[in-house]
Amino acid sequence: MTLSIPHGGKLVNLIDLEYNVSVITYEIELDAMALSDLELIANGAYSPLAGFLRKEDYESVLENMRLANGIIWSIPITLPVPEETAKKLKIGEKVKLTYEKETYGVLELQELYSPNKKEEAKKVFQTTDPNHPGVKKLLERPNVYAAGSIILTRIPPKNPEFGQYYKTPMETRKEFAKKNWHTIVGFQTRNPVHRAHEYIQKTALEMVDGLFLNPLVGETKSDDIPANIRMNSYEALLKNYYPGDRVYLGIFLAAMRYAGPKEAIFHALVRKNYGCTHFIVGRDHAGVGNYYGTYDSQKIFKQFSFEEIGITILSFEHSFYCTKCNSMASSKTCPHDKKDHLHLSGTKVREMLRNGITPPPEFSRPEVIEILINGLKNS
Ligand code: ADX
Repeated sequence: MTLSIPHGGKLVNLIDLEYNVSVITYEIELDAMALSDLELIANGAYSPLAGFLRKEDYESVLENMRLANGIIWSIPITLPVPEETAKKLKIGEKVKLTYEKETYGVLELQELYSPNKKEEAKKVFQTTDPNHPGVKKLLERPNVYAAGSIILTRIPPKNPEFGQYYKTPMETRKEFAKKNWHTIVGFQTRNPVHRAHEYIQKTALEMVDGLFLNPLVGETKSDDIPANIRMNSYEALLKNYYPGDRVYLGIFLAAMRYAGPKEAIFHALVRKNYGCTHFIVGRDHAGVGNYYGTYDSQKIFKQFSFEEIGITILSFEHSFYCTKCNSMASSKTCPHDKKDHLHLSGTKVREMLRNGITPPPEFSRPEVIEILINGLKNS
C-alpha cells in the first residue's frame, strides 16, 4: 500500500467520547469556525497539530510557514476568546469548549496571548484590507488567543444532508485501501463543480487510481453557494458523469479562509492526511477578488521540497470551453483566440442562477444547474 504518510509522520487521534467534562468549571464558548477546527484537530485532519497554536508556533507559522519544530504549516489555527473570558481563565487548568450550550471538547490551557492582527493579516492574507473576507473574519473574532492541547469529547452534529459524507482521515484511508487505490488525487472546492472543475479532475483521473472529491462545507462568505445545495449538485454530477468506482465524495468541515497561496498549502497538507497522494491546484486556488496572482497558489509550493510537502501537486492552467476546439481546453492545449473561449465569472454565474437563468451546458452540466437554481429559489 502506498497511501501518503500523514503530515509529521503520524495521524493524530484526540477523540475521547468517555471523557468526563462535568468536573470542569472553566469554559470557552466557540464560534462555528473554532468548532470545526477543534474537530479537525481531533480527528487527525490537521495532523501534526494537537491543539490550538501556542505563541511560538503561531509566530513561526506567520514568519516561516513552519511550526516551531520546523514542520511546514501555513495557516495559524487559533482559538480567539474575548478579553472578559480570558480574565476568568487560569493557565494550567482544563477548560470546557462549548458551542450553543453543549460541550464538545476540553482545552488544557497552556497560554493566553494577544496577537497583532494587522501583522497576521499581512502575513496570511497579504493584505490588511477589511473588505477581504478572511481579514474581515480575523478582525471580527475576539482579541486574545487561548492555546493548548485539546480533546474532542462529543462529535458535533452534522447537517443531515452531509452525514453519510462525513469521514475522518482514518476512515478515508481505510476506504481507499479497500478500493485498492494506490494513487489518489484530492480536490478542494467551495463551489459547485462546473465543466472546468470536471475537466481538470478527469484529466488528473487519467493518471491516478481515484479521485477524492472533498468539498469544503465549513463557513464561507455569504454570496458563495450554500454547502447543502452544493452537496445535491455533486451527487447529481457523480451519478450522471463519473465512474462510481473511481470517485469518493467526502466533506471537509473547515471554514474557508480565502488566503490564496497559504491556504493552498494548508489544503494540500490536510488532503495528504486524508490519504491523498496528489492534490489539484488550478487557477487562483482559494483566492478571492484580485488579491492574489492567478498562479500564486501554484508558485508557492516551489519554496519547499517534495520530501517536506509529501504530496504531489498537480497544477492546472485556467481551463475553459473553446467553441473552435469544441471541447474543454486550456492555453496549453488550445491555439484559438480568447473570443472563442466561453468565459463566465463566478459572480456572473451566481447572479444568473439566482435569477433562474440557465448558464450554457458548455459551462455547467444541466443536472447541476437545475439543482442549483431550485436550491437557491428555496433558500
Ligand atoms: S477554491 O476557493 O475552493 O479554490 P473553487 O471551488 O472555484 O475555489 O476551485 C476549486 C479548484 O479548482 C481550485 O484548485 C481552483 O484553482 C480550480 N479551478 C477553478 N476554476 C478553474 C478553471 N477555470 N481553470 C482551472 N482551475 C480552476
